[in-house]
Amino acid sequence: MTGTLQSADFKNPLLAGRRAISLVVAASENNAIGKNNELLWNLPNDLKFFKNTTWGFPVIMGRKTYESVNKPLPGRTNIVVTTKAGWHSEGAITVATIEEGITKAAETNSKQIFIIGGGEIYKQSMELADSIYITRVHAALDGDTFFPVIDASKWKLTSNEDFPVDDKHAYSYSFQIWEKIMVN
Ligand SMILES: NC(=O)c1ccc[n+]([C@@H]2O[C@H](COP(=O)([O-])OP(=O)(O)OC[C@H]3O[C@@H](n4cnc5c(N)ncnc54)[C@H](OP(=O)(O)O)[C@@H]3O)[C@@H](O)[C@H]2O)c1
Repeated sequence: MTGTLQSADFKNPLLAGRRAISLVVAASENNAIGKNNELLWNLPNDLKFFKNTTWGFPVIMGRKTYESVNKPLPGRTNIVVTTKAGWHSEGAITVATIEEGITKAAETNSKQIFIIGGGEIYKQSMELADSIYITRVHAALDGDTFFPVIDASKWKLTSNEDFPVDDKHAYSYSFQIWEKIMVN
C-alpha cells in the first residue's frame, strides 16, 4: 500500500454493525510480555490505563493469564479460554475456544470486546482484532512469553503518548494504538 492512509482505509467495525475487537498488551521493545507466568515490570500508570480502558467491557483471556491474577477482574465480564473440561472459577465464564469467547462477549451487548492475553491467545487473535492498545515499554527484557511482531504493512499507528522514567516507573513507556489497515 502506498500514499497517505485515509480514515476510510481503516476497518470501522462499529459502522459495520459488529463488535470491535481490541487486544490490550504491555510489551518490551523485544516484545517480551511475561516470565514465569508473571509480568516483567511494575508500572502503576499502565495498570491504571488498563483498568480505565477495559472497565465495563468483556475481557477474554487464556487460562494461564487468569491464574496469574487468580481472581476475576472487577467491573468486567471475565471470559477464560481453556481446553480443560470442567475448569471453573467463581466469577468467570469458561469457554473452550477464542471464538466461543467472542460469542459470549457479544452476548453482553457490549460494542467493544477486549482480548487481554497472554502470549498464546494474542498469537491466535491478531487476525481477529481491529485494534491493538499496546504499552510499549522502552527496554529489552528477558521473558519467556512474547507478543507477536506488529506488521507495519497490516497495522497503522494512530496514537502515541510518551512517558518518561520517574520515581514510580523504572522504564520509560508509550501508550500506542494501532489500527488494522483495511484491505479491499
Ligand atoms: N504484558 C501483558 O500485557 C500481559 C498480558 C497478559 C498476560 N501476560 C503474561 O503472559 C504470560 C501468560 O501467557 P501464556 O501464553 O503462557 O498463556 P495464556 O495465553 O494466558 O494461556 C494459555 C492457555 O490458554 C488456553 N488456550 C490457549 N489457546 C486456546 C484455544 N485456542 N482453545 C482453548 N484454550 C486455549 C490453554 O489453557 P489450558 O492449558 O487450560 O487448556 C492454554 O494453556 C504470563 O507471564 C502473563 O503474566 C502479559
